[in-house]
Amino acid sequence: MNKDKEKSRIDQIRNLLHHYNHQYYVLAKSEISDFEYDLLLKELIDLETKNPDYFDPNSPSQRVGSDSNLEFEKELHSFPMLSLDNTYSKEELYDFESRNKKLLPEDYEYICELKYDGASISLRYENGLLTRALTRGDATLGDNVTANIKTIKSIPLKLKGTDYPVDFEIRGEIFIPHEGFDEMNKIRRAEGEPEFANPRNTAAGSLKMQNSSIVATRPLDCFLYYMIGKDLPSNSHYENMQCARNWGFKVPNIIQKCKNLEEVIQFIEHWDIERKNLTYDIDGIVIKIDNLKQQQKLGMTAKSPRWATSFKFKADQVKTKLLSIDYQVGRTGAITPVANLEPVLLAGTTVKRASLHNSDQINLLDIRVNDFVYVEKGGEIIPKIVGVEKNSRTADSKTLEYINYCPECNTELVRLEGEAKHYCPNETGCSPQIKGRIEHFISRKAMNIGAAEATVEALVDSGLIKDSADLYFLTKEDILGLERFAEKSANNLIESIEKSKNIPFHRVLFALGIRFVGETVAKTIVSELKTIENIKNASIEELIEIHEIGERIAASIVDYFSIDINLNIIDKLKISGVQLEFIEDLNDLSENKLNGQSFVISGTFENHSRDELKELIVKYGGKNTGSISAKTNYLLAGENIGPSKLEKVKKLKIPIISEEEFIKMIKD
Ligand code: IVH
Repeated sequence: MNKDKEKSRIDQIRNLLHHYNHQYYVLAKSEISDFEYDLLLKELIDLETKNPDYFDPNSPSQRVGSDSNLEFEKELHSFPMLSLDNTYSKEELYDFESRNKKLLPEDYEYICELKYDGASISLRYENGLLTRALTRGDATLGDNVTANIKTIKSIPLKLKGTDYPVDFEIRGEIFIPHEGFDEMNKIRRAEGEPEFANPRNTAAGSLKMQNSSIVATRPLDCFLYYMIGKDLPSNSHYENMQCARNWGFKVPNIIQKCKNLEEVIQFIEHWDIERKNLTYDIDGIVIKIDNLKQQQKLGMTAKSPRWATSFKFKADQVKTKLLSIDYQVGRTGAITPVANLEPVLLAGTTVKRASLHNSDQINLLDIRVNDFVYVEKGGEIIPKIVGVEKNSRTADSKTLEYINYCPECNTELVRLEGEAKHYCPNETGCSPQIKGRIEHFISRKAMNIGAAEATVEALVDSGLIKDSADLYFLTKEDILGLERFAEKSANNLIESIEKSKNIPFHRVLFALGIRFVGETVAKTIVSELKTIENIKNASIEELIEIHEIGERIAASIVDYFSIDINLNIIDKLKISGVQLEFIEDLNDLSENKLNGQSFVISGTFENHSRDELKELIVKYGGKNTGSISAKTNYLLAGENIGPSKLEKVKKLKIPIISEEEFIKMIKD
């Protein structure tokens, strides 16, 4: 075949595969056998390899993913990804209805949909091509997971037809159907791997995997339920969703127009029963005002739109016997009691353990070993105990005595005033604390060193490392001495440790695992104090001078640097060449666009809450202060700003910028 012929064959196969994907994964119809499909895909991959200049990021061949390590860039959502208000009773729905009636004197219609229980996603299409997929993140900034999303076959990479807007976003839920989830766990069991806890967490976890070729093997699917953009085809949400279906999206067929609240309640009652027959998880019903103009009229609060609400179904509950209680020691020494239960089936999965949170929780419910307890699935991975059946207690039932000594190292536990948890104070000698700190140190958002939990365990147990800084003194021979390590994996680990020496200082500070010093606090401290020496020598008074650093954080930092073992860790990190000073990174100016400039926020904003704006200021290297002074660089002003503030900025000639201008400053 000559080049032109090869290229037209590539186009032909790409179109065929787009079509077969849509038929199979969206419409559940198969027009060709798996074998024929695989043959076409193989032919396409071969031709594309021969014609690299004809690469297309949206080719069906891109759905197989790749092995390269993905780094997820945080990106600004074009429109914040709001969540929904929850209602739990008919009364709350009546409140929703009367608010709508008040604000919309004209007629309106509701649209009822299922509330899919997965991980939300925002897909951007430009000229009919998928160009970006962002997770919800903190609603303002999401993780760019496009490479992983492309592996989900029901998501079109290229839209059908021509009548779609040039640039729009469509939002939906990534989920794993029951069948696929059970199949995954069957394989995990066979391979001796721990099973996944539930489909929702597995779906969310899959999106954040660094290796998209593994994501491609996961049975992920995606329902779309919300279109957003400038030139949408219709003023009706319902109609827009029908258009989206025609463009190739998997828009659920379970979507109903309701003329009044009675019809909404009927829909809810129907699906509260029928949900047991669905092949995927839902946790409620979403009720939306159909007309986009009316949606606009109702507007939104900082967190959620006023034009929609969700009705949450009651979580499933089961009764089972509490067999015993384990006490787990976390990275910070915090003790968490965990109940071992007689295995019981709850909402599709077998439950064996439940979290008890802390001793107050146990006392409050008067939970005792051998009690029959009610277990409920909440938002967390492990379910919780919500009640005890006291009638079925036997005569020998005794109040539970909470432990006084650490189950791992036998040190006497302490409980600080105002804190619910007990702590093991033996920070440097208690094994799970040591391992936990190292795991935190190497984690992705900290030093990003590629080592599994089992590796950390082996390194600590074999005595090769006692703290995170010891990682930098490991040799290849040391690692080769561990079980399961071969030349290549040992090299990879050494390389990954070496690479972490370039991690910027604020992440190193976060990696140290100082209590209450999270990512944002670490960044704030580094932007003020610049070097580890300055932080080490800072007094509580100096630290609380820094904006957003309170006494609790300051005391914890001073405390950390008063311990010899910690100072020794810092010394070892210093010798190893780990970044312990703030370095202006010319390649990373995007992170520092605001370059220490000081902002005061005032008024209310259309697209972001004040907290979101504060976070953005810090993220992009600026400072947010509460009151206007000669040092203020900008007043970020929304609606209804106080007259005294306005007068002050005018006097001091401080420029006033709008929300839009501010977003431009950090985006451009
Ligand atoms: S509409 C501005 N429709 O529920 C509202 N959301 O707590 C946009 N969800 O973050 C969302 N099913 O992840 C909408 N049919 C549905 C939904 C749905 C599930 C999720 C979504 C959202 C969360 C809100």
